[in-house]
Amino acid sequence: MTNAAWVVQTASPGETQRLGAALAGLLPRGALVALRGDLATGKTCLVAGMAKRLAELDYVHSPTFTLVNQYGEDPALLHVDLYRLGGPDELADLGYAELFDSDNICVVEWAERAESLLPERRLDIFLEHAGHDLRRLTLQNRALLPRGWQEQLESAVLR
Ligand SMILES: Nc1ncnc2c1ncn2[C@@H]1O[C@H](COP(=O)(O)OP(=O)(O)OP(=O)(O)O)[C@@H](O)[C@H]1O
Ligand SMILES: [Mg+2]
Repeated sequence: MTNAAWVVQTASPGETQRLGAALAGLLPRGALVALRGDLATGKTCLVAGMAKRLAELDYVHSPTFTLVNQYGEDPALLHVDLYRLGGPDELADLGYAELFDSDNICVVEWAERAESLLPERRLDIFLEHAGHDLRRLTLQNRALLPRGWQEQLESAVLR
């Protein structure tokens, strides 16, 4: 396990989805992926790629009133979006403890809104606008992914 960071730039929504799909292939069961970044930086797009790989879905949209969507099973991909989170009580109602620590794979948009509740072992992804259709993604592994993950993702994105 490593705590290294890796920066990658994507030039289209399709590239971001490909990265998400490749990433989903590396995630162990129980993984928590925390996405952070401004509006329209591609968080949902990255989740769409993960859902394609894990649940063979061609389209996902963020959960709204429920704050969480589930795609596929065994492991399910749990898609949480905290943009509309009203307050800490809502997180408790959501059952965040089971969501963030389960046998499934959980990906959280606007994860900073639950910062103190996130498990220490996770993958943080920071997404930024880098002009036009360019997006810069900084992946910070926090003891979740095995050694060599950057090389594996790099080859998946370049292919
Ligand atoms: N390289 C890229 N990667 C991802 N999306 C891109 C890229 N270039 C352009 N886009 C566009 O940016 C938008 C990203 O939307 P998306 O819903 O994924 O963002 P988001 O970060 O989830 O936003 P929100 O904070 O509103 O949930 C889409 O309209 C997509 O077509
Ligand atoms: Mg989104």
